[in-house]
Amino acid sequence: MGLERFTPDSTIFADEAVLRDGYRPEKLIERDNELEQYQSALKPVINGAPPKNLFLYGQTGVGKTLSSRMIIERLDADQEDLDDVEVSFVELNCKSLNSSYQVAANLINKFREPEDQIKPTGYPSGMIFTMLFEELEKLDATHCLVVLDEIDAIGNDDDILYKLPRANDNGNVANTAVGVIGISNDFTFRDNLSARVKDSLCDEEIHFPPYDANELGNILKQRASEAFHNTTVQERDDGEFELSSEILEDDVIPLCAAFAAQDSGSARQALKLLYKAGDMARDEGSERISEGHVRNADEVVERDKVREELSRLPTQSKLTLYGLLLLEEEDVLPAKRNRIYERYVLAAKRIDAEVRTDRTIHDRLSQLTLKGFLDVREQNKGPKGGSYYEYEFSIRADLVRDVLQEDGRMQELFEGTDGSMTLDSF
Ligand SMILES: Nc1ncnc2c1ncn2[C@@H]1O[C@H](COP(=O)(O)OP(=O)(O)OP(=O)(O)O)[C@@H](O)[C@H]1O
Ligand SMILES: [Mg+2]
Repeated sequence: MGLERFTPDSTIFADEAVLRDGYRPEKLIERDNELEQYQSALKPVINGAPPKNLFLYGQTGVGKTLSSRMIIERLDADQEDLDDVEVSFVELNCKSLNSSYQVAANLINKFREPEDQIKPTGYPSGMIFTMLFEELEKLDATHCLVVLDEIDAIGNDDDILYKLPRANDNGNVANTAVGVIGISNDFTFRDNLSARVKDSLCDEEIHFPPYDANELGNILKQRASEAFHNTTVQERDDGEFELSSEILEDDVIPLCAAFAAQDSGSARQALKLLYKAGDMARDEGSERISEGHVRNADEVVERDKVREELSRLPTQSKLTLYGLLLLEEEDVLPAKRNRIYERYVLAAKRIDAEVRTDRTIHDRLSQLTLKGFLDVREQNKGPKGGSYYEYEFSIRADLVRDVLQEDGRMQELFEGTDGSMTLDSF
């Protein structure tokens, strides 16, 4: 017995990196409208006019980041030929930055040399903006485009989304024409932008809709031709792509595309599915990828996705789910909200979390239902009895349990023998 040898594989993949998320495809397909709109919004820059501020939004995996990169590279290349225009670009992913202050501080550091970096805390907030404006002012460029990706991370603290797009109009920066491109996949964030931010950031909004199965199929075919051995793709006159492959059985790509289209319309999900299916075929030593591999891969990908979404839930939502888990153990699901609430209160007290009102937990239950973790049913008690709602899991309870158990704060609730769930007051 020992470890298996690492041997170079495989008969399946020619270059599996092509299917990974970080891979930069050469061409962006199926996004002609969005690219056109995007390019036209940036045209003023090339004519030497002040840039428009843009807001890009759409669900996860629909090509927002990729399109942005490509457009900016294009603009960067094309400006070489222009004498009067010099555009500088800054891109910042705001994923882990939860305030305008942090975004401003990180931007300042993007402009500065390594030895002049500032610390991410400790300045008065007025000062941090002044420093940012100074950096923009002294740029050796006519224009600066600031791309703020995953900008929803800053939540309500959105001062920068007002101040930066308005930097020229408000007289904070005179020498450089500043344009902001905000990107987000959070529709609540978009809907809740304050009126003044909407006014300043959203000169133009570009919506990236989810891909349909046909579009996903084309994206997949394009990638598959690079990723797998003996696989080629041809674009027909009608714009459709035709794949021929000794590795992929005919149903594989349509099925990956259909699964991803049904669920999210995300190219990222579709690519992940195809990659996983290939992985499974390789692990089995199979020479071809079949429909069965895709179905198995879908289960794994789906499970990973749900797991990740669950793990990101706030503690109060996890405590609510814990209440449902207890009821599941008692075999009394579906259950009414007051029963869930009783269990929730005990769990919240046990880990010293704030105990929220029954009303708040009702809202949590609705959110969890919207997110697809719970099912709700209306029960009627006949003409006089009125109606009430009952909740149960719409995903597997053992998955919920696994994820909650991994959360450091919730661990105390699983400290019975072999991780069984405990609440003293029961
Ligand atoms: N039209 C397309 N053609 C080829 N590949 C695409 C296309 N759209 C998306 N992809 C691929 O799908 C993945 C996700 O795309 P991207 O990162 O741009 O999504 P996003 O909209 O920024 O998602 P998020 O909101 O999660 O950041 C990437 O691997 C990208 O290469
Ligand atoms: Mg992105």
